[in-house]
Amino acid sequence: MVKPDYRLTYHLTPEYGWMNDPNGFVHINGEYHLFYQHYPYKPVWGPMHWGHAVSRDLIHWEYLPIALAPDEEFDAGGCFSGSAIVVDGELVLMYTGHVVTGPDNTMDYKQAQGLAYSKDGQTFKKYVNNPVIGYDLIPSGVSQRDFRDPKVFHHDGQYYVVLGSNDTQGNGLILLYRSDDLKQWTFVNILAKSDGTFGDNWECPDLFHLGDKDVLMFSPQRMPAQGNEYTNLHSTMYMVGKFDSKAGTFTTERFAQVDHGFDFYAPQSTIDSKGRRIVIGWMDMWESDMPTQDGHHWAGAMSLPREMVLDGDRILFRPIEEIEASRCNVFEITDVAFSGKQTVDTIGDCYELEVEFEAGQTKTFGLKLRVNEATGQETVLTYQTAEGLLSLDRNHSGIGPGGERKAAVPLMDGKLALRIFVDKSSIEVFAGNGETVMTARIYPDQESRGIILFSEGKNRVVSLRKWDIQ
Ligand code: FRU
Repeated sequence: MVKPDYRLTYHLTPEYGWMNDPNGFVHINGEYHLFYQHYPYKPVWGPMHWGHAVSRDLIHWEYLPIALAPDEEFDAGGCFSGSAIVVDGELVLMYTGHVVTGPDNTMDYKQAQGLAYSKDGQTFKKYVNNPVIGYDLIPSGVSQRDFRDPKVFHHDGQYYVVLGSNDTQGNGLILLYRSDDLKQWTFVNILAKSDGTFGDNWECPDLFHLGDKDVLMFSPQRMPAQGNEYTNLHSTMYMVGKFDSKAGTFTTERFAQVDHGFDFYAPQSTIDSKGRRIVIGWMDMWESDMPTQDGHHWAGAMSLPREMVLDGDRILFRPIEEIEASRCNVFEITDVAFSGKQTVDTIGDCYELEVEFEAGQTKTFGLKLRVNEATGQETVLTYQTAEGLLSLDRNHSGIGPGGERKAAVPLMDGKLALRIFVDKSSIEVFAGNGETVMTARIYPDQESRGIILFSEGKNRVVSLRKWDIQ
């Protein structure tokens, strides 16, 4: 049995065992299907299966039977990440078959792409002629090993797929393929490639139209930090620009980080029947300690689904509105002037908190969450007014990895607005209108539930509202 401590309540976690990347995110017949990289036997990464869950509101999920297991020659080492597409009412999955080819499983492997079909949305049949994008379709000058994470989409009457790889010289890249029937594929072009500053291998690419632009989103591995940006071992980024499907090119106008916290990786998006572009990410990070691996029998979680809205040449990320239906027990204070420390008269470990500060002349201010003053546990959000920086500090959060992340968040009319989601072992902070998001896993004791405001100098809380999420 999984242990209940740290188990999230309104985020998707594996029923048992391990979870990483979101896969096959799709909206069909009024339901959102979300698949995920899954090892069902232990809370560790192992030969990958596709776990499967379904939801009507993106908050309450029902587990379905495992969709894919490694049982073919071309996927014997695992069914790696991929995506879904609906063709004539049928759900089609496209995924990477991973094969280990020698004694060193970090070096000796090959990857190719296969299909699986489902008529009922529950049971999947792998295509008999898999792989459909085989080893022979990898262009020269590109890794013959890292060739994975197909994101399939329909565009101008044809199917396209983007795949992640590298040039074997330390530069991540994205490959573009085209097909009429999902079975016969031709290589079009290298759609985008690192110039040496964007990491040595790119994983989980996604390409979609948003507003009047195109967006390329991906997860660069080992991308060097740029100041306060891209400070995790592996990052997530998006490029806003123009996709030319005929030429197979992407012209970038602007790029930015998707999430500025510690734990957000391999995001995948889908579009729903309301026309919303929704993204969800794995709310963990490779090579970062996961305390629930130790005796809890589960590890890994998904982020809150976020709606993406284009604003000029940047993307705003907003928690999907369905979460508001789960709010209860409202607590509210308005117009509170304070300096120093101010304890808020409510507690919790599973809530949404919306707060607006008026910075005034205050040098630094912020709030502490999941506080236990007796033990010193706290997760701290600090705003430095002169620098315009918001920081998330989990050095005293509890067990698990510590550290601090900082992001540029300009004040709006002298005010800082934050929407914060806390769920047992996670925190997600949306600043302003969704210009900046910071996500982290934290592992405080159950007793660490306090909320404290602090300010160096006179500050005013315009309003603070908190709802338990049930
Ligand atoms: C990203 C990733 C993918 C791969 C999968 C394997 O987190 O490394 O590139 O398909 O995880 O589980």
